[in-house]
Amino acid sequence: MNNLFEYDDWCIVEEGFNPELNREAESIFSIGNGYMGQRANFEECYSGDSLQGSYIAGVYYPDKTRVGWWKNGYPEYFAKVLNAPKWIGADLSLDGKVLDLAKSKISSFRRILNMKEGLLERSFNWNHSKGKNVEIDTRRFLSMADPDLGIICYRVKPLDFGGTADFIVYLDGDVRNEDTNYGEKFWEDIYSNSEEGKGIITSKTLKTGFHVTTGMSCIIHKNGKAVEASHEIISRPGYVANRVKVSFNPGDELLLCKYVSVQSSLKHDVKNLVSVVTARIDYAKKRGFDALFEDHRKEWGKIWATSDVVIEGDIAAQQAIRFNIFHLNQTYTGKDERLNIGPKGFTGEKYGGSTYWDTEAFALPFFLKTAPGKVARNLLIYRYKHLGKSIENARKLGFKDGAALYPMVTMNGEECHNEWEITFEEIHRNGAIAYAIYNYVRHTGDNGYLADYGLEVLIGLSRFWSQRSSYSENLGKYVILGVTGPNEYENNVNNNWYTNTIAAWTLEYTKKILTDLKKNDPGKLKKITSLTGLRFSEETGSWEDIISNMHFPFDEERNVFLQQDGFLDKELKPASSIPETERPINQHWSWDRILRSCFIKQADVLQGLYFLEENYDTETIKRNFDFYEPMTLHESSLSACVHSILASRIGYTQKAYELYLRTARLDLDDYNNEVSEGLHITSMAGTWLAIVEGFGGIRIMSDRVVLNPLIPEQWKSYSFHARFREILFLTKVTDKNIEITNLSDKTLRFRLFEKDYEINGTEKLKVKI
Ligand code: BGC
Repeated sequence: MNNLFEYDDWCIVEEGFNPELNREAESIFSIGNGYMGQRANFEECYSGDSLQGSYIAGVYYPDKTRVGWWKNGYPEYFAKVLNAPKWIGADLSLDGKVLDLAKSKISSFRRILNMKEGLLERSFNWNHSKGKNVEIDTRRFLSMADPDLGIICYRVKPLDFGGTADFIVYLDGDVRNEDTNYGEKFWEDIYSNSEEGKGIITSKTLKTGFHVTTGMSCIIHKNGKAVEASHEIISRPGYVANRVKVSFNPGDELLLCKYVSVQSSLKHDVKNLVSVVTARIDYAKKRGFDALFEDHRKEWGKIWATSDVVIEGDIAAQQAIRFNIFHLNQTYTGKDERLNIGPKGFTGEKYGGSTYWDTEAFALPFFLKTAPGKVARNLLIYRYKHLGKSIENARKLGFKDGAALYPMVTMNGEECHNEWEITFEEIHRNGAIAYAIYNYVRHTGDNGYLADYGLEVLIGLSRFWSQRSSYSENLGKYVILGVTGPNEYENNVNNNWYTNTIAAWTLEYTKKILTDLKKNDPGKLKKITSLTGLRFSEETGSWEDIISNMHFPFDEERNVFLQQDGFLDKELKPASSIPETERPINQHWSWDRILRSCFIKQADVLQGLYFLEENYDTETIKRNFDFYEPMTLHESSLSACVHSILASRIGYTQKAYELYLRTARLDLDDYNNEVSEGLHITSMAGTWLAIVEGFGGIRIMSDRVVLNPLIPEQWKSYSFHARFREILFLTKVTDKNIEITNLSDKTLRFRLFEKDYEINGTEKLKVKI
């Protein structure tokens, strides 16, 4: 679907309606506010193909698992993000003819997602019947200022005929997920009430018992004046509507405004939900579209003022990076520590809306550098609160003494993925959680987090790694057997280099933090010891033994780390040997063929070199990059960004740029032919990292920021915002100079191309390249 959308700095623009690409467009034009999200489904009835999707963060359903061969240790359920009650509904007929974009004759269709202001707009002409034409346009937003509110303005202007318009404005709780395992409905209708200009329904999720109350208040204006038409009130379980008939003359302008509030039992007592929602829709209607939009627009203004990336000379790249920043902020605002970031955010059902290692490895670094520290902190607290369940999860698999295995996929801390090679074997996720704690502390300087929360998690993780490693008499080394690394095109391998490396690193980091605490704050250590039952000398002693004697597969001849034991037994071929028609290979090859091949789904050894870059010199990174990049297919959206960052690091600027483009426009250009299912939200963070850590070369080292920027030749300049210890600064790079502006009132210390600088608050510095 290349070039379906026009290039524009701030907007995604679709000209002409193509029903065959409706699902794709529904994903691309999704809106959200961290609390709820909405695919770009139409307000009015649509009988064509569509994936209906209204999602509420944190509201899920544990769908019964479906597996061929049940294995002990599998979770009983797979948590699903729910398609929630439909709040956008507003059917329209004129003179008895229903508007339905799958059947009606329309022209001049244009849809715009205005990312600067968070507004979705749509306009088209409806050729109602011979000589009868109607102009229609709609505006919709989910408020960033009032995250329970969704507002729609629907304007209808019959140009050359008079008659009667019939609006049915409704809320519908009769919704289903497409991806149910057994075709079940996940909602139960609890309450519905409708009166003139209003309607409220409460729905409850089966099993999990979340209550969601959705309320609407609607008003219709004709030529700027509220219409005094009589409303037909419809109310049945799970459905409420107001049906309003309005007469019109040629050229009259009819404007429907629908104000919706969605509240759930995650925030309010069930008994108060209806009254809270009633008050909120009254408030919204009183405040009106323009004022609510102004509040919302200001919030987006604040977000862009601290996270925008400007690229001069490459509009495709400019549009793409804003698209990614926009969707990341629509997905997570960091206001509630119970919420997290699903790989598809609020744009589809795939991946169940659950939390994956993507959060710690990709999304967290984005929020660390673009949002106040408390946003990233809430992502860590989310995992801290799941520590008990992770210990329980490890116990079920046979581990003991407080060892914690975080789930690969989760909603509430319980594992809900059930493919043995991932559930049991893709244990590297534990490493990303440890790394996230380290990353958070080095960015924010919030050392207190370690003693108050982080260490408990690190101890659980380290206990897991020490029990999961075993001693091989044969090698005289510790080994980690039977794992799946980040590269999911290999299962059940021994000694995945990345897993062994991140395991040893976690043990070392935990030991260091504990040792520091012993020296600096023995009182806190005592508290942690009693909380976790830590046997300090015995446990850290055994960790030390593992750290010093871990087996890291290595090839002396090529001088590269080996992805796993036996990797060199494979027939080594470049990915370029696979014809395009056979890609992605997981859709064309048997799994057996994939497993035997050398082809790599996503960064694996290179993921380790990216995380722990400080431990490796440029030559080592280069050798491993040269060895692995040609065999990597980048068939996970999380891959090209890591390779791009490393390519920048080793000076392969053109390669870095090519890989960057692949990640940046992944969804806009639908590289993987799957955007219909939703957007790749977590990999969008990787795209941002490819600019800031890749081209910008930003690293955090102890007390300062380190920058080694370069610029792709295709760009005239680029600039980005980043934060270090709550100091916000703007970096602008051209091929001639680098300009850094300190946007805070504190002194910024940094190292640029090996030289140290300081910039006082609000000052700037320009350095020639
Ligand atoms: C990747 C995983 C990732 C998951 C969700 C998979 O295709 O291999 O690393 O966690 O998608 O994004």
